[in-house]
Amino acid sequence: MLDKTFTYRNGFLFCEDVALSDIAALHGTPAYIYSKSAIIDRFRAYKAALKGLSHRICYSVKANSNLAILAALKAEGAGFDIVSGGELYRVLACGGDPRSVVFSGVGKTEAEIRFALEREIHSFNCESEAEVYLISRIAVELGRTAVIAIRVNPDVNAITHPYISTGLREHKFGVDIGAAERIYAAAAHLPGISVQGVSCHIGSQLLDVEPLLEAAGKALELVSRLRAQGIPIRNLDLGGGLGVPYRASERAADIETFINRLRPNVEGAGLTLTLEPGRSIVAEAGLLLTRVLLNKCNGQKTFVIVDAAMNDLIRPSLYQAHHEIVPVCQDPRADRIRADVVGPVCETGDFFARGRELPSVHPGDLLAIQTTGAYGFVLASNYNSRLRPCELLVDGTRIILARRRETYEDLIRGELSNIGTEPGA
Ligand code: LLP
Repeated sequence: MLDKTFTYRNGFLFCEDVALSDIAALHGTPAYIYSKSAIIDRFRAYKAALKGLSHRICYSVKANSNLAILAALKAEGAGFDIVSGGELYRVLACGGDPRSVVFSGVGKTEAEIRFALEREIHSFNCESEAEVYLISRIAVELGRTAVIAIRVNPDVNAITHPYISTGLREHKFGVDIGAAERIYAAAAHLPGISVQGVSCHIGSQLLDVEPLLEAAGKALELVSRLRAQGIPIRNLDLGGGLGVPYRASERAADIETFINRLRPNVEGAGLTLTLEPGRSIVAEAGLLLTRVLLNKCNGQKTFVIVDAAMNDLIRPSLYQAHHEIVPVCQDPRADRIRADVVGPVCETGDFFARGRELPSVHPGDLLAIQTTGAYGFVLASNYNSRLRPCELLVDGTRIILARRRETYEDLIRGELSNIGTEPGA
């Protein structure tokens, strides 16, 4: 959505104080553009809402793991929610404190657990009984103690796209809340383990906070039952999930209202509250800048073919996600057209919008695909041997090259071409 981060000045779209057309001229397209101040503002909104509560805000690295963004959030006091050794490596690479890290994920490998224990992360969110035993064994081997929470699946229906809903019994995530007490009791006696938390995450892009509050209620009841059994739970991690408006008709879930409704119960229970926001910190701070290659009509249909594709931004293809698409240079005389905005990849599923009303565009025009700061670049691939785009962080009038565009050399790095053809093979 266009807020104060992305504004038109004399018909030209700006990110903070930089014209997107200037960025395109300097760095080419496609390019992801992020506003640093928008990211920081969103993080500060969480900090302000949580004021007075014992808390930890662990930014969910999967949403956008660019080092420049991690470093900016770290400087604001963020901790990190990770789901792989690679994400821990990124946190360390930006100077992040491993003691601010929570490690989630349904299938942690031995090597990842070892890496996390050696770096002394804050806590593991365990997603199965088998994982608790595995962590115990590795911790004993290393002579360390792993602080753990168990991720419970509260069987709450988060109203969102089925691929990003995680809190129902039929989903692979967490342990059934009904079985949790038995697993906690077993974990409490394991060597190398300190059971300190309850965690849950019921889904992503939640515009209604009621399911989150329902899940929190169930988690809090579990905390009471565990404490009654003598298991001293100190941390409650409610995951991420607050949604953002992708369409003008949608309204963001309000952080302050959400926290204020939770506050009395959490305060009363003497818990430290951890949140793992991803999308709500970075989504609206980013856009994907692309250039129109050509227009084409097939029968009744008009196609606008652009230089970005599903390999750069897969959300429309994968989740039928809606992203607003706006011109970078407004032309008040432009006719309105109805078109599919598509990329060059050889798949019918390669589209950014279907049957979308837009001002007419011409080859060379720039378009901005909005609200793509979260789950944009991180899901990009080299499909069709396309080079992944550059990422630019705008800070006032500064344009920081946060990741350079890939080259053909990057594309084949690590591959062999001489299998069986080298002399003597
Ligand atoms: N914590 C856990 C355990 C998670 O699984 C997730 C997201 C988060 C935190 C962050 O959730 P957020 O605040 O961003 O909603 N690729 C999909 C979204 C997948 C979300 C996966 N888990 C998309 O593009 O919509």
